[in-house]
Amino acid sequence: MGIKIVSTGSYLPDKVLTNFDLERMVDTSDEWITTRTGIRERRISEVETTSDMATEAAVRALGESSPEEVELIVVATATPDAFFPSTACKVQAKIENKGAIAFDVSAACTGFIYGLYVADSIMRSKGVSKALVIGAERFSKIVNWKDRSTCILFGDGAGAVYLETSDEEGILGFDLGADGSYGELLAVPSVGSNEEFPYYVRMKGNEVFKVAVRTMVDSALRVLEKTGLSPKDISLLIPHQANLRIIRAIAERLGLPEEKVFVNLDRYGNTSAASIPIALDEALRSGRLKKGELALLVAFGGGFTWGSCVIKV
Ligand code: ACO
Repeated sequence: MGIKIVSTGSYLPDKVLTNFDLERMVDTSDEWITTRTGIRERRISEVETTSDMATEAAVRALGESSPEEVELIVVATATPDAFFPSTACKVQAKIENKGAIAFDVSAACTGFIYGLYVADSIMRSKGVSKALVIGAERFSKIVNWKDRSTCILFGDGAGAVYLETSDEEGILGFDLGADGSYGELLAVPSVGSNEEFPYYVRMKGNEVFKVAVRTMVDSALRVLEKTGLSPKDISLLIPHQANLRIIRAIAERLGLPEEKVFVNLDRYGNTSAASIPIALDEALRSGRLKKGELALLVAFGGGFTWGSCVIKV
């Protein structure tokens, strides 16, 4: 038995915040942001909650498939609507599903790959045949809009995949891991800490940068080894969309040319756990990734956490 990504969906809020808008908010410039990150604009949710965006992405991913038949809903998010109920339970209510296993996964920007791994494992071992895995974030709510070193980076949005058990194998392998000793380099404290509210993203960007490149390359190479593949077998690299310089460094070290690397961070910034499923959805809809081709997903995030996955679409 295999697991297949049957369909995908994504949702981005309408409001566009450009680098030029940010020039009026903090001491920065379009030139600095574009050169250092590759980001030109990002989407900001004014009214939609994380679960609203997650639901819209899930509905688009489901298409004609019945929400009632979904047996598992996993939402990867660092910005849930509530401590509880989980975002997954909120999505479940909104799509009018009853009875599915529903819970959130917390692994920052690697959350979607962690979520996919958990869903894949449950489907293979527990007889679950239909699942939604969603990455959804409203990072604009935890960004300090006075801190130029972080507020230029993030955006809001959601992406989803609909999985079914199948005769064909669509999820070829994973490599996942974490190293909690780096926790303080990229963090958002919360109620369990001794910090005062409000809680904002903190990041030592240049230290994160170095570890991010090395870790993602190592993880990508490990998943290729586990699946018996080499970079030349991969039709499209879909990396977490944090920084164009990071993406280029990874592609270069894997020996992948630009046309085999998917980038949309110029339009959406870093949408954390939503970035890979949004990119996957766009890659499939635009024809950058075609039926039968292999894609390599690779992510890195707060924790530190990392993850890679090879899929056949
Ligand atoms: N505009 C203008 N100047 C700025 C800005 C800004 N928005 N932000 C910082 N600067 C200044 C700094 O103050 C510093 O000035 P100084 O030299 O006078 O001290 C200078 O620019 C350089 O700052 P650095 O932080 O060293 O810049 P760097 O080239 O490292 O770029 C960035 C910063 C874009 C954040 C980069 O380090 C990065 O992308 N890091 C990794 C992010 C990442 O991958 N995160 C993981 C996933 S996210 C998650 O899990 C939630």
